[in-house]
Amino acid sequence: MRHLMSPLDFTKEELDKIFDLAGDIERHPEKYAHACSGKILATCFYEPSTRTRLSFESAMTRLGGQVIGFSDAASSSASKGESVSDTIRIISCYADICAMRHPKEGAPMVAAEKSTIPVINAGDGGHQHPTQTLTDLLTIRSLKGRLNDFTIGLCGDLKFGRTVHSLINALVRYSGIRFLFISPEELKVPDYITDMLKERGIPYEEVIRLEDVMPRLDLLYMTRVQKERFFNEEDYVRLKDFYILNEEKMKLAKEDMLILHPLPRVNEISVEVDEDPRAAYFKQAQYGVYVRMALILTLLNIQPLPEGGTSC
Ligand code: CP
Repeated sequence: MRHLMSPLDFTKEELDKIFDLAGDIERHPEKYAHACSGKILATCFYEPSTRTRLSFESAMTRLGGQVIGFSDAASSSASKGESVSDTIRIISCYADICAMRHPKEGAPMVAAEKSTIPVINAGDGGHQHPTQTLTDLLTIRSLKGRLNDFTIGLCGDLKFGRTVHSLINALVRYSGIRFLFISPEELKVPDYITDMLKERGIPYEEVIRLEDVMPRLDLLYMTRVQKERFFNEEDYVRLKDFYILNEEKMKLAKEDMLILHPLPRVNEISVEVDEDPRAAYFKQAQYGVYVRMALILTLLNIQPLPEGGTSC
């Protein structure tokens, strides 16, 4: 039995297989419509979510399985003081696989240690968000045709943004990646990440102004300032609109640069940019369903039969 806590839990070759499977699901959804018949996914979300929870639920439903779960801690027995360890023991009796989001870093890992079913980290505090990374990698591979040899700018809240931390961790395994970290001083990428890049000899630069580096980017990964991780409102208000990507700034970008964003967006991408053909963030959310379908099949070790139907 395998869990998914970090994108590094899969080798590059295993990730390729998941992305190939996601591509096949996109092209031939009918082949997979009953692949998880009789299986149950539990979504245990102790923190708010739209995309991750609903894309997991959509994924399992599209695979012919069923879904149970809770969407906030207040509606679960966590509000009465139940531990994550006890909760997962119970969920293991009710479901075949579990996706868990929690505000505390490491909580899904604690759950995995006590679980008898695969546990997927659906975001733990400011730490990791591996299924967002699978979504990001599939989007890049599908729209750029490769996962190597590009310059990626990561812009916004690089301190608290768990999607950024997971994506950097995953991309360092591909060749020819150059990172440009674009953030205010207070929201710089953590030292443990820059130390790792130095150790591996991977090129990176840290800058404050997006305009200064825009013409060099093949990919721009925008992020929102993570309000829920700030200790005081004043700092959040001061930093929240530090970056606003608009049509004017897009004039500086390459014609084939892609804009990604894990979403939700607040003000950091102006809605006028949505019509730009380089804006890939809504398509990215769609890829999130295909890749989560592929992940569920992989972790449950289910091989759909070529003509349809299921073999487990
Ligand atoms: N990208 C993402 O994690 O979005 P949600 O918080 O809506 O799940």
